[in-house]
Amino acid sequence: MKGAIIYFSNTGNTKLACERIKGKIRNAEIDLFNMRDGYPELSDYGFVGFATYASEFKVARFVADYMDGFPEVHGKPAFIFTTYGRDNGSSGMVLARLAKRKGFRIVAEHALNTPENYPPVIRMEHGHVENPTDAQVAAFDAFIDELSGISSKLSNGEEVSEIKVTSRLRYAFIRILTSRWLMQKLMGNKNVDTDLCVKCGKCVRACPYGAVSMKEYPEFVEAKCHGCFACYNNCPRKAIFTKKYNKFANYPGPLPAVVEKLTVH
Ligand SMILES: Cc1cc2nc3c(=O)[nH]c(=O)nc-3n(C[C@H](O)[C@H](O)[C@H](O)COP(=O)(O)O)c2cc1C
Ligand code: SF4
Ligand code: SF4
Repeated sequence: MKGAIIYFSNTGNTKLACERIKGKIRNAEIDLFNMRDGYPELSDYGFVGFATYASEFKVARFVADYMDGFPEVHGKPAFIFTTYGRDNGSSGMVLARLAKRKGFRIVAEHALNTPENYPPVIRMEHGHVENPTDAQVAAFDAFIDELSGISSKLSNGEEVSEIKVTSRLRYAFIRILTSRWLMQKLMGNKNVDTDLCVKCGKCVRACPYGAVSMKEYPEFVEAKCHGCFACYNNCPRKAIFTKKYNKFANYPGPLPAVVEKLTVH
């Protein structure tokens, strides 16, 4: 049985975790697809995984828009996977709801605690760098075992039950309070330290919202910015700065300890 995982990852934690699923699952051959590359053809795949990181206790606008444009299916089994730094909120539930709206049947769900990549939280709480703990990795592996069982059942033509993904009511209110405008304000307007910038264009490619373009140096359209820090975190020179954030609390990619814990050897 072939399975597809369609992921969105800002600094690599989610992608790394998806690679662990691909490396450890039994009874299935998994292909990974990045949401940023568009919509894959799914007819060869017996099941699909949707994966992203928690953003503002829900999913990033990019993911919501991507899922809105997803071609409709008729009951294809899907699982939901999210990573999060501090509190997953309703991200799994929101992603499940978006997939269900397109005709997917949700059969499994898991959230993995990882280090935090959002600089405002790293600044306050040291980034939760201990995650995932051994127990969290074990729970993740148990989820991968569950997926192996589901794949096996699907291959044998057996029934796999649909599940309901829920979250606490308070997140419904928090979801309403967050907005592109607020997130941009929390980050602030971006500038480039031209002494540090090597014009590599990584920030342009990192921005999911087309808010960065390369002129002599990168330029930012703040009206398009969602304050996701992807440009800030991914700049290899820490050349991007705002009034409140300048060369600190960056998360340039999965920490070596996280790579060690999640890589399949
Ligand atoms: C804009 C933004 C908002 C975030 N919001 C949350 C959140 O609501 N709850 C949480 O636990 N983590 C939150 N995080 C942290 C990420 O979910 C977490 O670090 C995740 O593993 C990052 O995955 P990635 O490396 O695949 O991008 C947020 C990160 C960003 C950039
Ligand atoms: S990622 Fe950093 S170094 Fe590269 S172009 Fe952008 S600001 Fe300059
Ligand atoms: S400009 Fe930077 S912070 Fe704003 S949306 Fe693009 S990548 Fe995210």
